[in-house]
Amino acid sequence: MSNPVALLCSPHPNGVSDSIARLVAEGVAEAGACLQTVALRDYTFEGCIDCGGCTKPPHKCTLAGRNSGGNIDRAEEIFSLIEAAPLLFISAPIYFYSLPAHFKALIDRTQRFWAAQNHTPAGKPTLPRAPIKPTLVSLVAGRPRGKLLFSGSLLTLRYFLSPLNATISETRLLRGLEKVKDLEERPAVRAALRAWGHDWGCRLMAGKVPGYDPSTAPGPGCGKDGASSPC
Ligand SMILES: Cc1cc2nc3c(=O)[nH]c(=O)nc-3n(C[C@H](O)[C@H](O)[C@H](O)COP(=O)(O)O)c2cc1C
Repeated sequence: MSNPVALLCSPHPNGVSDSIARLVAEGVAEAGACLQTVALRDYTFEGCIDCGGCTKPPHKCTLAGRNSGGNIDRAEEIFSLIEAAPLLFISAPIYFYSLPAHFKALIDRTQRFWAAQNHTPAGKPTLPRAPIKPTLVSLVAGRPRGKLLFSGSLLTLRYFLSPLNATISETRLLRGLEKVKDLEERPAVRAALRAWGHDWGCRLMAGKVPGYDPSTAPGPGCGKDGASSPC
Protein backbone atom coordinates (compact mmCIF):
# COMPACT_ATOMS: atom_id res chain seq x y z
CA MET A 1 0.00 0.00 0.00
CA SER A 2 1.23 3.51 -0.78
CA ASN A 3 1.63 6.31 1.67
CA PRO A 4 0.43 9.89 1.29
CA VAL A 5 3.02 11.94 -0.59
CA ALA A 6 4.24 15.47 0.15
CA LEU A 7 5.75 17.28 -2.82
CA LEU A 8 8.40 19.77 -1.70
CA CYS A 9 8.33 22.28 -4.53
CA SER A 10 10.97 24.85 -3.58
CA PRO A 11 14.50 24.82 -5.01
CA HIS A 12 15.64 25.90 -1.51
CA PRO A 13 16.44 22.94 0.80
CA ASN A 14 15.27 23.43 4.39
CA GLY A 15 13.62 26.71 3.48
CA VAL A 16 10.22 27.96 4.58
CA SER A 17 8.02 25.65 2.51
CA ASP A 18 10.14 22.62 3.50
CA SER A 19 9.72 23.65 7.15
CA ILE A 20 5.96 23.89 6.67
CA ALA A 21 5.88 20.40 5.15
CA ARG A 22 7.93 19.10 8.08
CA LEU A 23 5.38 20.48 10.58
CA VAL A 24 2.48 18.94 8.67
CA ALA A 25 4.35 15.61 8.45
CA GLU A 26 4.96 15.70 12.22
CA GLY A 27 1.24 16.11 12.76
CA VAL A 28 0.46 13.20 10.44
CA ALA A 29 3.04 11.06 12.28
CA GLU A 30 1.53 11.95 15.67
CA ALA A 31 -1.69 10.39 14.42
CA GLY A 32 0.22 7.23 13.47
CA ALA A 33 0.32 7.62 9.70
CA CYS A 34 3.22 8.59 7.47
CA LEU A 35 3.71 11.37 4.93
CA GLN A 36 6.42 10.48 2.43
CA THR A 37 8.30 13.62 1.36
CA VAL A 38 9.49 13.96 -2.24
CA ALA A 39 11.70 16.97 -3.03
CA LEU A 40 11.27 17.88 -6.69
CA ARG A 41 14.71 19.53 -6.71
CA ASP A 42 16.25 16.05 -6.28
CA TYR A 43 14.72 14.89 -9.56
CA THR A 44 15.97 15.94 -12.98
CA PHE A 45 13.34 16.70 -15.60
CA GLU A 46 12.67 19.18 -18.38
CA GLY A 47 9.53 21.14 -19.13
CA CYS A 48 7.21 20.28 -22.02
CA ILE A 49 8.55 21.35 -25.42
CA ASP A 50 5.24 20.93 -27.27
CA CYS A 51 6.69 18.37 -29.67
CA GLY A 52 3.23 16.83 -30.11
CA GLY A 53 4.55 13.35 -29.32
CA CYS A 54 1.88 12.65 -26.69
CA THR A 55 -1.05 13.74 -28.82
CA LYS A 56 -1.84 10.28 -30.16
CA PRO A 57 -2.07 6.93 -28.31
CA PRO A 58 -0.24 5.67 -26.28
CA HIS A 59 0.18 9.34 -25.19
CA LYS A 60 3.78 8.84 -24.05
CA CYS A 61 6.12 11.78 -23.43
CA THR A 62 9.18 11.88 -25.68
CA LEU A 63 11.25 13.36 -22.82
CA ALA A 64 10.51 10.49 -20.37
CA GLY A 65 13.71 8.71 -19.37
CA ARG A 66 15.74 10.73 -21.87
CA ASN A 67 19.43 11.18 -21.12
CA SER A 68 20.34 14.86 -21.21
CA GLY A 69 24.03 15.53 -20.49
CA GLY A 70 24.23 12.43 -18.26
CA ASN A 71 21.00 13.24 -16.40
CA ILE A 72 18.03 10.93 -16.89
CA ASP A 73 14.64 12.65 -17.06
CA ARG A 74 12.68 11.40 -14.01
CA ALA A 75 9.32 13.16 -14.27
CA GLU A 76 7.52 9.84 -14.73
CA GLU A 77 8.82 8.61 -11.36
CA ILE A 78 7.07 11.50 -9.69
CA PHE A 79 3.86 10.92 -11.63
CA SER A 80 3.93 7.27 -10.48
CA LEU A 81 4.28 8.37 -6.85
CA ILE A 82 1.42 10.84 -7.24
CA GLU A 83 -0.82 8.28 -8.92
CA ALA A 84 -0.21 5.68 -6.19
CA ALA A 85 -0.67 8.07 -3.25
CA PRO A 86 -4.08 8.10 -1.53
CA LEU A 87 -3.50 11.70 -0.41
CA LEU A 88 -1.29 14.42 -1.84
CA PHE A 89 0.26 17.38 -0.03
CA ILE A 90 1.85 20.22 -2.01
CA SER A 91 4.13 22.69 -0.25
CA ALA A 92 5.33 25.52 -2.48
CA PRO A 93 6.62 29.06 -2.15
CA ILE A 94 5.42 31.94 -4.28
CA TYR A 95 8.09 33.16 -6.68
CA PHE A 96 7.14 36.21 -8.75
CA TYR A 97 3.43 35.69 -8.05
CA SER A 98 3.74 32.16 -9.39
CA LEU A 99 5.05 28.67 -8.66
CA PRO A 100 8.83 27.94 -8.75
CA ALA A 101 10.28 27.11 -12.17
CA HIS A 102 11.14 23.45 -11.60
CA PHE A 103 7.66 22.72 -10.26
CA LYS A 104 6.17 24.54 -13.26
CA ALA A 105 8.25 22.29 -15.52
CA LEU A 106 6.59 19.24 -13.89
CA ILE A 107 3.18 20.87 -14.23
CA ASP A 108 3.74 21.38 -17.97
CA ARG A 109 4.65 17.70 -18.26
CA THR A 110 1.08 16.76 -17.36
CA GLN A 111 0.29 17.65 -20.95
CA ARG A 112 0.43 13.93 -21.78
CA PHE A 113 -2.32 13.25 -19.22
CA TRP A 114 -4.45 15.98 -20.78
CA ALA A 115 -3.84 14.48 -24.21
CA ALA A 116 -4.89 11.01 -23.02
CA GLN A 117 -7.94 12.34 -21.22
CA ASN A 118 -9.15 14.35 -24.18
CA HIS A 119 -8.51 11.68 -26.79
CA THR A 120 -11.63 9.70 -27.61
CA PRO A 121 -12.66 8.34 -31.00
CA ALA A 122 -15.49 10.85 -31.05
CA GLY A 123 -13.12 13.63 -30.07
CA LYS A 124 -15.13 14.31 -26.93
CA PRO A 125 -13.31 14.97 -23.64
CA THR A 126 -13.79 12.22 -21.05
CA LEU A 127 -14.69 12.98 -17.45
CA PRO A 128 -12.16 12.32 -14.65
CA ARG A 129 -12.24 8.87 -13.08
CA ALA A 130 -13.52 8.38 -9.52
CA PRO A 131 -12.48 8.44 -6.74
CA ILE A 132 -10.87 11.83 -6.85
CA LYS A 133 -7.62 12.09 -4.89
CA PRO A 134 -7.75 14.71 -2.09
CA THR A 135 -4.92 17.23 -2.19
CA LEU A 136 -3.78 19.62 0.53
CA VAL A 137 -2.01 22.75 -0.69
CA SER A 138 0.22 25.07 1.33
CA LEU A 139 1.52 28.19 -0.41
CA VAL A 140 3.87 30.60 1.33
CA ALA A 141 4.83 34.13 0.33
CA GLY A 142 7.21 36.73 1.68
CA ARG A 143 4.88 39.67 1.16
CA PRO A 144 2.36 40.36 3.91
CA ARG A 145 -0.14 41.86 1.46
CA GLY A 146 -1.42 41.39 -2.08
CA LYS A 147 -5.01 40.53 -2.92
CA LEU A 148 -4.06 38.22 -5.81
CA LEU A 149 -0.85 36.83 -4.28
CA PHE A 150 -2.02 33.21 -4.54
CA SER A 151 -4.75 33.42 -7.20
CA GLY A 152 -2.71 32.50 -10.29
CA SER A 153 -0.89 29.65 -8.52
CA LEU A 154 -4.13 28.15 -7.23
CA LEU A 155 -5.63 28.22 -10.72
CA THR A 156 -2.52 26.55 -12.17
CA LEU A 157 -2.61 23.88 -9.45
CA ARG A 158 -6.25 23.17 -10.18
CA TYR A 159 -5.43 22.40 -13.81
CA PHE A 160 -2.26 20.49 -12.87
CA LEU A 161 -4.26 18.20 -10.59
CA SER A 162 -7.29 17.71 -12.80
CA PRO A 163 -5.82 15.22 -15.33
CA LEU A 164 -4.14 13.41 -12.42
CA ASN A 165 -7.61 12.77 -11.03
CA ALA A 166 -6.89 14.92 -8.01
CA THR A 167 -8.51 18.02 -6.59
CA ILE A 168 -7.65 20.66 -4.01
CA SER A 169 -9.41 19.76 -0.75
CA GLU A 170 -7.93 22.31 1.63
CA THR A 171 -5.44 25.15 1.45
CA ARG A 172 -3.22 27.10 3.82
CA LEU A 173 -2.14 30.39 2.25
CA LEU A 174 0.59 31.93 4.39
CA ARG A 175 1.88 35.49 4.02
CA GLY A 176 4.76 37.45 5.47
CA LEU A 177 7.05 34.45 5.81
CA GLU A 178 10.21 35.50 3.99
CA LYS A 179 12.66 33.38 5.97
CA VAL A 180 12.56 30.33 8.25
CA LYS A 181 13.08 32.67 11.21
CA ASP A 182 9.72 34.31 10.41
CA LEU A 183 8.05 30.94 10.83
CA GLU A 184 9.99 30.27 14.03
CA GLU A 185 8.67 33.56 15.42
CA ARG A 186 5.05 32.51 14.84
CA PRO A 187 4.33 29.60 17.20
CA ALA A 188 0.58 29.81 16.57
CA VAL A 189 1.13 29.27 12.83
CA ARG A 190 3.44 26.34 13.52
CA ALA A 191 0.94 24.77 15.91
CA ALA A 192 -1.88 25.22 13.39
CA LEU A 193 0.16 23.50 10.67
CA ARG A 194 0.96 20.57 12.96
CA ALA A 195 -2.72 20.35 13.92
CA TRP A 196 -3.67 20.32 10.23
CA GLY A 197 -1.35 17.36 9.66
CA HIS A 198 -2.71 15.64 12.76
CA ASP A 199 -6.28 16.11 11.58
CA TRP A 200 -5.51 14.46 8.23
CA GLY A 201 -3.45 11.77 9.95
CA CYS A 202 -6.51 10.92 12.02
CA ARG A 203 -8.68 10.81 8.91
CA LEU A 204 -6.19 8.39 7.35
CA MET A 205 -6.09 6.22 10.47
CA ALA A 206 -9.90 6.22 10.68
CA GLY A 207 -10.05 4.79 7.15
CA LYS A 208 -11.71 7.93 5.83
CA VAL A 209 -9.29 8.44 2.94
CA PRO A 210 -10.02 6.02 0.07
CA GLY A 211 -7.01 3.93 -0.93
CA TYR A 212 -5.31 4.09 2.49
CA ASP A 213 -5.26 1.00 4.70
CA PRO A 214 -4.70 2.07 8.36
CA SER A 215 -3.65 -1.46 9.38
CA THR A 216 -0.41 -1.00 7.44
CA ALA A 217 0.41 2.33 9.12
CA PRO A 218 3.85 2.57 10.75
CA GLY A 219 2.98 3.55 14.29
CA PRO A 220 0.56 4.18 17.11
CA GLY A 221 -1.91 6.95 16.55
CA CYS A 222 -5.49 8.10 16.92
CA GLY A 223 -7.09 4.74 17.17
CA LYS A 224 -4.16 2.99 18.90
CA ASP A 225 -2.46 3.14 22.34
CA GLY A 226 0.93 4.70 22.90
CA ALA A 227 2.93 7.75 21.97
CA SER A 228 3.42 9.31 18.59
CA SER A 229 5.85 7.73 16.17
CA PRO A 230 8.08 9.23 13.52
CA CYS A 231 7.79 7.87 9.97
C1 LIG B 1 12.93 34.21 -6.88
C2 LIG B 1 12.00 34.63 -5.78
C3 LIG B 1 10.82 35.26 -6.09
C4 LIG B 1 9.92 35.63 -5.09
N1 LIG B 1 8.75 36.24 -5.42
C5 LIG B 1 7.86 36.56 -4.46
C6 LIG B 1 6.62 37.17 -4.80
O1 LIG B 1 6.28 37.39 -5.96
N2 LIG B 1 5.77 37.50 -3.79
C7 LIG B 1 6.08 37.26 -2.48
O2 LIG B 1 5.29 37.57 -1.60
N3 LIG B 1 7.25 36.66 -2.12
C8 LIG B 1 8.15 36.31 -3.09
N4 LIG B 1 9.33 35.70 -2.74
C9 LIG B 1 9.57 35.36 -1.32
C10 LIG B 1 9.26 33.89 -1.05
O3 LIG B 1 7.92 33.59 -1.38
C11 LIG B 1 9.48 33.57 0.43
O4 LIG B 1 10.78 33.93 0.81
C12 LIG B 1 9.23 32.10 0.74
O5 LIG B 1 9.17 31.95 2.14
C13 LIG B 1 10.36 31.21 0.20
O6 LIG B 1 10.09 29.86 0.52
P1 LIG B 1 11.24 28.73 0.35
O7 LIG B 1 12.32 29.05 1.36
O8 LIG B 1 10.55 27.44 0.64
O9 LIG B 1 11.73 28.82 -1.06
C14 LIG B 1 10.24 35.35 -3.72
C15 LIG B 1 11.47 34.72 -3.41
C16 LIG B 1 12.33 34.36 -4.42
C17 LIG B 1 13.62 33.66 -4.07
